[in-house]
Amino acid sequence: MTEIVITAPNDAREVYRHKQLRQALYDAGEVVMEDVVVNLHGDDHRQRRRLENRLFRRDTFFEYERDMFPTIIQDTVDPYLESGEAELVDFGHQLMMNLAALTAGVDRPLGTYEETSRLYDYLTTFIEGATLGFYTGDVDAKRTEIEEKLEAFDKEFLEPGIALRKELLEKFERGEIKEEELPRDVLQVLLRNQDKVPMTRESLRREIAFYLLAGAHTSATALTRVVHNIFKWLEEHPEDQVKAYSDKVFLQKATHETIRLQPSSPTAARWALEDIELKSGIKIAEGDKVIIDLETVNRDKATYGDDAEEFNPNRNLEPGVTPWGLSFGQGMHACIGQDLAAGLVFDTDSTEENHLFGLVPVAVQTLFLNGCKPDPDNPPEMDDSTTRPYFGKYPVVFSQIREK
Ligand code: HEM
Repeated sequence: MTEIVITAPNDAREVYRHKQLRQALYDAGEVVMEDVVVNLHGDDHRQRRRLENRLFRRDTFFEYERDMFPTIIQDTVDPYLESGEAELVDFGHQLMMNLAALTAGVDRPLGTYEETSRLYDYLTTFIEGATLGFYTGDVDAKRTEIEEKLEAFDKEFLEPGIALRKELLEKFERGEIKEEELPRDVLQVLLRNQDKVPMTRESLRREIAFYLLAGAHTSATALTRVVHNIFKWLEEHPEDQVKAYSDKVFLQKATHETIRLQPSSPTAARWALEDIELKSGIKIAEGDKVIIDLETVNRDKATYGDDAEEFNPNRNLEPGVTPWGLSFGQGMHACIGQDLAAGLVFDTDSTEENHLFGLVPVAVQTLFLNGCKPDPDNPPEMDDSTTRPYFGKYPVVFSQIREK
C-alpha cells in the first residue's frame, strides 16, 4: 500500500469529491465509528445523510442560535463569571457538549450537575474512541472501556430518549400534537424514518454518540485555539485591543482564521477503490491511501497571500475564497454542522441582527465581551495523552471590563 499525500487545494477538492475514494480516517476508531455517517460510503451514506440533512438546514440553525443556545451558553458561563476564572479546555467541552446534546437528541431529564458530569465522562470516552489511532496508552484496554461506556450511555440517556420520542411520534400521528412540537434533533429524525431507513439499536447508539462528539469536540478544541490566537495577536497588535473586546465580526473572523490554520483534524484520509488519475496528473492505484494534508492546503499562498502561514484576523480575501480553507471538508462528507459551528461569512448585506455567527464565534464573543484574559499565574499546558496538538489546560480570568 502506498500513501499519497495531497498538498495542493485543487487536488484536495478533487479527492474530497471523488466517488471511488472511501473514508479512511476512522479505521482504528471503529468501536464508536463503525457505521456512523462519516464512515459510510455510497448508497448507505446517501440515505443516512439525506435524512440528517432535513434537520441541518439554515432555518434550524437560526432557531438554535437565536432561541435555544443563548440560555444554554449563559447557564454554562455564569458560574465561571461569578468566580472570575475558568479553565478553557473543560469549559469549552462542557459548553459545546450542552449544545451538541441538544442537536443530537440527548436529554438530561434530571438536570443535575451529576447527570451532566456523567454525560461529560461518556463524551470524553467517545472522543478517545474516535481518535483511538492516535492514543498513546493501552489501546485494547481502552477499547473495552469504550464498549462498556457505550452500553451504559445507552441505558442512562438513549433508552429514555427513544421512549419519549416514540411516544411523541405516536401522539403526532394521532393528531394530538403538531409537527413543531416534535424535538428538532438527530435522534427524532432517525426514529421517525426507521420504516424507510431502519437502524439497529447499536447503530443508533453509535450515531448519537458520534453526533455528540462531532459537535462538541471539534468546536471545543477550536474555541481554545481561537482564544489563544487572539491573546498572541494582541501581544503584537495592541491597537486591536478594543476590537477584540467589542467587535463580534472581528471575533468571527478570528475563529475562521484559526480553523483554517489549525483544522480540527489536520488530515483527511481516503482509500482508493479503483485506479484514479487526478487532473493534475497524480496517479493513485487501487488500495492506495490518500492523505489530504490540510495544514499545507490551507496555507496556500496563491489563495491566502504571502503571509498565509500567519494568523491574521484582519485578512482580506478575494470573493469566493473560504476563510476556513478546506477545514470542513467538501463533497459527500462535507461537514453537516459547518454553518452551525462557524456561521456564514459576514458580507456587505449582513447586519449583526440578521447574521448567523455560528456557535464557536458566539462562545468566543461571550468570553471576550466579558473581558477574558490569560491567567497570569497559570500558563497553559499541552495534553500529552495524545499525539495530536491539543491544549490540556488553558486557565483564563475575567476582568469584566467591557470596552465599548
Ligand atoms: C469547528 C467545528 C467543526 C469542524 C472543524 C468540523 C470538521 C468536519 C470535517 C473536516 C468533516 C469531514 C470529514 C471528512 O471528510 O472525512 C466533518 C464532517 C461531519 N461533521 Fe463536522 N466539524 C465541526 C463541527 C461540527 C458540528 C457542530 C457538527 C454537528 C452538529 C458536526 C457534524 C459533522 C458530521 C455529522 C459530519 C459527517 C458528515 C458526513 O459524513 O456526511 N460537525 N466535520
